[in-house]
Amino acid sequence: METKQTVVIVDLSGRCNQLIARSVRNLNVYCQLVGDNAKIEDIKKVNPIGIILTGESDGEKTIEAEVKTIGVPVLDIRDIDVESKQGVKTLKSFLYKTCKAKGDWTMKAFTEAMVAELKEKIGDKKVLCALSGGVDSAVCAALIHKANKDCLTCVFVDHGLMRKGEPEQVVDVFRNKLGMNLIHIDASERFLTKLEGVNDPERKRKIIGEEFIRVFEEEAKKIGAVDFLVQGTIYPDIIESGIGSKGLVKSHHNVGGLPDVIDFKEILEPVKDLFKDEVRKVGIEIGLPLEQVNRQPFPGPGLGVRCIGAITRERLAILKDADFIMREEIANAGWDTKIWQYFAVVTDMKSVGVRNEVRSYEYTVALRAIHSIDAMSAQFVHLPFEILETISRRITTEVVGVNRVVYDITSKPPATIEWE
Ligand code: XMP
Repeated sequence: METKQTVVIVDLSGRCNQLIARSVRNLNVYCQLVGDNAKIEDIKKVNPIGIILTGESDGEKTIEAEVKTIGVPVLDIRDIDVESKQGVKTLKSFLYKTCKAKGDWTMKAFTEAMVAELKEKIGDKKVLCALSGGVDSAVCAALIHKANKDCLTCVFVDHGLMRKGEPEQVVDVFRNKLGMNLIHIDASERFLTKLEGVNDPERKRKIIGEEFIRVFEEEAKKIGAVDFLVQGTIYPDIIESGIGSKGLVKSHHNVGGLPDVIDFKEILEPVKDLFKDEVRKVGIEIGLPLEQVNRQPFPGPGLGVRCIGAITRERLAILKDADFIMREEIANAGWDTKIWQYFAVVTDMKSVGVRNEVRSYEYTVALRAIHSIDAMSAQFVHLPFEILETISRRITTEVVGVNRVVYDITSKPPATIEWE
């Protein structure tokens, strides 16, 4: 992987805006993003074929003058809108005409090179991977499995807070279809017992996170010492953990804290250089099913933060069924590929209704659908009333315990995407 052509993007605003990096990658050129406090020696080390300056800086930064001394072409793109036609033309001309880029950054090439790299690195040593059902860990597992299928053990901790049908799908895809060595731990009772009577959203998150680590640790102990622990870190995680202050190659905190409690020698992060859409492309390249690859963002604490107030088995069952109906109807209407994220929430509020001419007193389910690019802000989707009507009718008829459905028409900010 080290031989690929690299362009370095220096964000002089220090904010490390990912937009230009995405545009360069889209033009099949690999790039790394650094902040205004990057060290010139670090930039030289990657042997860049070109350098791009971006951001609105207040005053000239040292690095701005320094990069011009390296002796490779420098493009100042601060006054150019890279999303405009002219901007793309300028970028393309710089990369291909000025820097003589070969356009060697494709996900096919990445996959082949990464599998070869992993094959060499892993040899016949032991690798442990926590599968969450999300695309990042799924792609990591698939890459390692392709490199050496006998070395990998995947652990899937099922906390009982995944959507209806998802745990079965994870087992079916990874164990049955891909033939991976998968340990499926049904820990739902254990999680629900721990969560009993807990109302506070932050406390819920903490319990779920801690319990997850504990269960994973117990399983890892049974497996014994491993050489490598896999982490599905992606490039935005690295950028967001402070690339500006640490130069090109920096350490970042390990999500979930797993490495602290497990006996392993090294962390493997096969997709740490990729943006999310690139991870998805690798997933397709390596043969993961589309539903796995295009899975919408899903919070780590799962349905735990969509079951408002204290989680009960009754309301969790309501939520799973209501959410399933919503997903089914959105897909039936062909809206599943148009929406960034959509889901149901079960509130802890009951209201009066009428069922079979008799007074009912049942829960309210809220539906949420949002458009977003990076989850930092989001706009509620103007879903056609016909779709909402069908979902509402099905939920109130098919899900026992729900007599009212509402649609959340709040954007972020002031709301967040999740309700808790
Ligand atoms: P909020 O609710 O903060 O959510 O607007 C932003 C995005 O992050 C997802 N989310 C989480 N993802 N662990 C995760 O891995 C979490 O604890 C978590 N909480 C929220 C949420 O679904 C949305 O896409």
